[in-house]
Amino acid sequence: MEFKFTQENLNRIEQETKKYPVRKPAVMAALYIAQEQNGYISYEVMKEVATVLGITEEEVLGVVTFYTMYHQKPMGKYHIQVCTNVSCMLRGGYEIWNQIKEKLGLDHMAVSADQKFSLEEVECMGSCGTAPMIAINEDYYENLSKEKVEEILNGLSATLSKEEGV
Ligand code: FES
Repeated sequence: MEFKFTQENLNRIEQETKKYPVRKPAVMAALYIAQEQNGYISYEVMKEVATVLGITEEEVLGVVTFYTMYHQKPMGKYHIQVCTNVSCMLRGGYEIWNQIKEKLGLDHMAVSADQKFSLEEVECMGSCGTAPMIAINEDYYENLSKEKVEEILNGLSATLSKEEGV
């Protein structure tokens, strides 16, 4: 499906390009904005990013495939990232990972059938001092315990039910 940036997002990308002497380094920001607009990075998105920045599609693809934060398929409404790197692992990161996996019935990079949840095991998200932690979309949840995780997941389900009028 064809992808075009909204005018507002084109303006945001233009602002990003002004931070550098050439346009290419703005590729990460442009991809981030694209993912925000489209939900994931499709081939059409990569093509458009390449056109907007005046770089090759291969250069965009290299960035998309290197960084795990860019998703090449649609993820859930709530994309849950669980850190299992050293600090989080030492403070129960794997227990939390297994807890969420079991509760949602999902594995790494899987999306629920209703597209509400997706799950990803990730490396350090820079919040080691407040380990263990998870991120749900853009929000960090830190200093977690299994009880807190249960509460958070139940909260998300309650929000979904409310939205659906259940
Ligand atoms: S190890 Fe988990 S945030 Fe750094």
